[in-house]
Amino acid sequence: MMVELDPSQLPRHVAVIMDGNGRWAQQRGLTRLHGHRVGKESVRAVIEAGKRLGLEYLTLFAFSSENWQRPPREVDGLMNLLRRYLESELGKMMKHQIRLLAVGDLSRLPPPVRQALRSTIARTRDNTGMTVILAVSYGGRDDILRATRAIARQVARGEMDPQTIDADTVAAHLGTAGIPDPDLLIRTSGEMRISNFFLWQLAYTELYVTDTMWPDFREREFLQALAFFQQRHRRFGRTAEQTARERLRAAN
Ligand code: FPP
Repeated sequence: MMVELDPSQLPRHVAVIMDGNGRWAQQRGLTRLHGHRVGKESVRAVIEAGKRLGLEYLTLFAFSSENWQRPPREVDGLMNLLRRYLESELGKMMKHQIRLLAVGDLSRLPPPVRQALRSTIARTRDNTGMTVILAVSYGGRDDILRATRAIARQVARGEMDPQTIDADTVAAHLGTAGIPDPDLLIRTSGEMRISNFFLWQLAYTELYVTDTMWPDFREREFLQALAFFQQRHRRFGRTAEQTARERLRAAN
């Protein structure tokens, strides 16, 4: 199937819950870790497609705050995969001008992984292409709790009047401060859940759930998800804010 996309109606920010690596592997008699390894190729494919299409932001939910409870072997395997991925992809990120950011409780990461993440973020910070945000050791409630504490501290110090706290104040204290909310959320492997991912940020996001498991989710499936997004927009019409934003973008 040919997927036709309207380049003027792409989402600015796509977020992905990459689910199903374990099941994909188990169905084939392989180890769960093998599934994550193949899933890494899907990460690569989706980043390349996103960059080529000109997306501005792509968030990948790589490891949740609950994933620490998995068997230590699997956690170690995932951490190693992440570190090696960061080390091996740096050249490509520079070439494609990809800027890397991370959200989540990075203090829980093993020091070599944290170091690899920090160093990739620092080296890619001036890149002007697509921004890839890795959600690692991330939990939506944890994000909101930390924002709440930070705001409460400012109130306690007398630096903020509770009356002035609004949605922008909260958003500015989340891990995603400065990043527009996702326009589209993709979840692979069929589950209709948010699983403690972006709780605040997904308030108005279009949701796309596919039965395809993450290791099988490649460029074609990604384009299909984007086509779904564009159909939703055509069917339901756009808001004044969106049309204004698009006019602004077209003018730039
Ligand atoms: C969900 O599948 C996937 C994960 C917990 C990890 C995602 C990690 C990758 C795709 C690999 C590397 C990532 C990067 C950014 C290089 P699952 O294990 O929950 O699958 P299941 O629901 O079938 O058990």
